[in-house]
Amino acid sequence: MSSKISRIGVYTSGGDAPGMNAAIRAVVRTGIYYNKEVFGIMRGYEGMIENEIVKLGARSVGNIIQRGGTILKTARSDAFRTKEGRARAFENLKKNGIDALVGIGGDGSFTGLHYFHQEYGIPAICIPGTIDNDLPGTDFTVGYDTATNTAVEAIDKIRDTALSHNRLFFIEVMGRNSGYIAINSGIAGGAVAIIIPEDSQTTMDELFNKLDAGGKTNKKSSLVVVAEGSKLGGAMELAKKFSERNNYFDIKVTILGHLQRGGSPTYFDRVLASRMGVAAIEGLLKGETDVMVGIRRGEMVFNPFSMIIDHIHEINSESLRIAKILSI
Ligand code: F6P
Repeated sequence: MSSKISRIGVYTSGGDAPGMNAAIRAVVRTGIYYNKEVFGIMRGYEGMIENEIVKLGARSVGNIIQRGGTILKTARSDAFRTKEGRARAFENLKKNGIDALVGIGGDGSFTGLHYFHQEYGIPAICIPGTIDNDLPGTDFTVGYDTATNTAVEAIDKIRDTALSHNRLFFIEVMGRNSGYIAINSGIAGGAVAIIIPEDSQTTMDELFNKLDAGGKTNKKSSLVVVAEGSKLGGAMELAKKFSERNNYFDIKVTILGHLQRGGSPTYFDRVLASRMGVAAIEGLLKGETDVMVGIRRGEMVFNPFSMIIDHIHEINSESLRIAKILSI
């Protein structure tokens, strides 16, 4: 594959996600496969600004495909939002001879890279790595499958104790402003109700009437999955409000939090990350730039950052319909 690119920098940025290491491994090994040098930039844009850049070889990414987190560390960088910060970052890339970038992260990371590309013209590609699955242009982001499986495993465990004590649990899952983890862990975990930011139809009264109806028909244990970005309020708030009007249920709250970000990636995330890593390097070498790699109906695709940034990944209304039918 002919290309003027000779040294590629790779970094992870924003919240970590299981499968980021598998993506790093794929980027490094594909780069080397095409006779390019690959450098790891530590702590995302922070490391670019501070010149924390290390050469990576095929062996430096051995034994990481199964590990959660990111060996390159990650950060959210305020300095990179400034022109001065980006200028320092570019100087450091020049010093190290890096002439192309692969960023692994979420929409904040893409926005930074988009502006950087516009200012300095450096070829740049992103791999979507976030548990939130909130990026349009890809059916799945790296980390989402693992996080959702973690949430389902936790919900199953909570179900055991809920059933034993006849309790109602409000379980809060991550996702920022997206309800992907909630809707699919809720369906898979058999939740009686799933509250997501994208659902503007369900009111507090409807939710509480549904739970009341369950209580009156002797449904003593129930699980409600709440996305952290829910517009009706988080799990704590909903539980408090419901307890003020209900006396059937013994109510508990579990906030799953950051445990959804860790753990060994599922086979799905490892394969997705591997495919995206290969696609990112091959895309770069064929001249793709200012784009995000995505997967659409099983195929690798490239979408311009302008189609991704500030757009949302809609939730299929079919998922909401299924959740409703199955929770009677
Ligand atoms: O974007 C990933 C994510 O885990 C979100 O689901 C969550 O809202 C946020 O990051 C938490 O961020 P932090 O780790 O900075 O608390």
